[in-house]
Amino acid sequence: AVDRRVDRLLKQMTLEEKVGQLTQYSAESKATGPVAIESNVRDGIRSGRVGSVFSVVGTNSTRQYQELALQSRLKIPLLFGMDVIHGYKTTFPIPLAEVASWDLEAIQRSARVAATEAAAGGIHWTFAPMVDIARDPRWGRVMEGAGEDTYLASRVAAARVKGFQGRQLGDADAVMACVKHFAGYGAAVGGRDYNSVDMSERMLWETYLPPFKAALDAGASTFMTSFNDLNGVPATGNSHLLRDILKGKWGFTGFVVSDWRSVDEMVDHGYAADNKDAARIALNAGVDMDMQSGVYQGNLVQLVREKKVKLADVDDAVRRILRKKFELGLFEDPYKFSDAERERQALNNPEHRKAARDIAAKSIVLLKNDGAVLPLSKSVRKLALIGPMIKQGVENHGFWSVTVPGVDYAHQAVSTWDGIAAKLGKDTTLLYAKGSDIDGEDRSGFAEAVRVASEADAVVIEVGERWDASGESRSRANPTLPGGQEDLIKAIVATGKPVVVMINAGRPLVFDWVADHAPAILYTWWLGSEAGNAVADVLFGDVNPSAKLPMTFPRSVGQIPIYYNHFNTGRPAPTPTTTEWVSGYIDLVNLPRFPFGFGLSYTTFRYDDLRLDRETLRGNDKLQVRMTLTNTGKAAGEEVVQLYLRDRVASVVRPVKELKGFQKVALAPGETRTVEFTIDKESLSFFNSALRWDAEPGEFDLMVGASSDDIRLRSSFQYVR
Ligand code: IFM
Repeated sequence: AVDRRVDRLLKQMTLEEKVGQLTQYSAESKATGPVAIESNVRDGIRSGRVGSVFSVVGTNSTRQYQELALQSRLKIPLLFGMDVIHGYKTTFPIPLAEVASWDLEAIQRSARVAATEAAAGGIHWTFAPMVDIARDPRWGRVMEGAGEDTYLASRVAAARVKGFQGRQLGDADAVMACVKHFAGYGAAVGGRDYNSVDMSERMLWETYLPPFKAALDAGASTFMTSFNDLNGVPATGNSHLLRDILKGKWGFTGFVVSDWRSVDEMVDHGYAADNKDAARIALNAGVDMDMQSGVYQGNLVQLVREKKVKLADVDDAVRRILRKKFELGLFEDPYKFSDAERERQALNNPEHRKAARDIAAKSIVLLKNDGAVLPLSKSVRKLALIGPMIKQGVENHGFWSVTVPGVDYAHQAVSTWDGIAAKLGKDTTLLYAKGSDIDGEDRSGFAEAVRVASEADAVVIEVGERWDASGESRSRANPTLPGGQEDLIKAIVATGKPVVVMINAGRPLVFDWVADHAPAILYTWWLGSEAGNAVADVLFGDVNPSAKLPMTFPRSVGQIPIYYNHFNTGRPAPTPTTTEWVSGYIDLVNLPRFPFGFGLSYTTFRYDDLRLDRETLRGNDKLQVRMTLTNTGKAAGEEVVQLYLRDRVASVVRPVKELKGFQKVALAPGETRTVEFTIDKESLSFFNSALRWDAEPGEFDLMVGASSDDIRLRSSFQYVR
């Protein structure tokens, strides 16, 4: 029925109006009051030359824009897009942090809350999730994805799409997901944003494309192209990616939007002669909507007349976009999402804040806890809170947070100071010293910080990179603790007090000295609106940390890129410290500082009794794997049990291990549970040299452990076709 309505409308459209549907602009103003809509955009909307606007915030503004669209001849409603990346008004942890929870339900809930709020604020479409695999922490956008592992990232991609899109498009709390950035963006050479990507087709299919496919299978409505060129062809002009794979082999029926001006940037790439050529290339390659460059608007009509672009391809792009507008219910009620009362009730409501606090606490990774410094006692008499971030509030939202003006935004994120103060009673005195700035070499505050630390019974020091040091266009050549912060920690640790170091960052940082010398370390990323409360929950043991790293943490920048599922090579190091005549460095071991999947708890877990229900897996049968997990400590806790496989010999070399399953299990002290996994042909399959997804017969090692580097149980089995 939708297709019939789309066709009926399409027949009434002029070519100019069709091109209008393929055109998207960013709103200049983020004000919620009467907005100053730029006159060219205003005229464009009124004359049906604009199909979508993004970054319009709030019901008042979206209503004003929509009123303009309804003045156009065919009254086709606008689509409102926005980067709702980790929450709308209630900010959740940055996406990479959430993945550290390995809690798919909580991740889906986070996206659900974000969608509910955004939809109540007039938004139809979020430019999320980002599903780019990222193995290089220099790349600033690692904060926005799901880390280095294809299996984990694929599961997360599906959860996020389901969360955003809810039960079905057309519900008033469902927003369209936009899976990005298609494709290869995370492999930018040198971790430099927007840089080129050169990779084998097999690597693309095996490592980088599966999360996109998983998002598509979960029902994702739209895709965004990436800025990079892939093997010499810009992704935005890449018909192999868009027409052969996405719309061809995968049968994607939604629409593709370019990234911000990535259409006209093909001129800078040296792939298009001029803007008109760029429009031709992008449309022919399968980009349906042009974000921000205006070159579709300026050139497509002419290009169709000159027969350089087929009208049928324009029609196909328009159909894809109109279909979504119909599915969203915008033709029934163009203001469906612009409901001020719903907005008032949805934004930042207590239930949403509770969900944000829950996942924020679940995202905190306990990296070290020598001498059981943590959890801190709530009856600590004097607690020193030190560091340039300890009183930060608004910064805790992290990069890509949506600001919703008109509400007191600046005080919506809880600082560590406030979170701790709210947790503790009158008997504790909190002492404060800033110590240093985040950046810069000024050490004049050290003495005061040391004095404060010396007076206290315990010290919490919060350091890291600035909230806006990771994100788009935030690559760092040297992702270490900036400024004098490491020296500040050295001075505090030298006091001999129980010291907890909290590190805020949007990426894995290199902090080798701290890892060796600080007694306790929590990796706290950027945790959003409830940051301080979540941190306090973990510091004082109300929540037992259960997060595990979604990316490998290097010892040194020189080890980058570093990831757990590498090949063995012909010269693997026989011991972790062998460095010569093996694949490694003569001045550093290959071992990461903290491996993928690593994270401690306030309790301990014993892994026992690995059982496989058969020695040989045949064809499409299933292999059941069971083990018993016991909480051997004194605190209730959750463990992420990880299952890895290795294909011993294959027609192309296979990684030393690959994650193929995980279970997050909650256990009371002393409790034992059976944990189960299912292995099937799919788990063993890979893209062979003919790019066929297939499992090859032979022996497979099976490993179950607490991290990629902490394998507790091993077995093996045979696969026969
Ligand atoms: O959605 C983003 C994209 O990820 C990077 N460039 C800008 C877009 C719109 O803000």
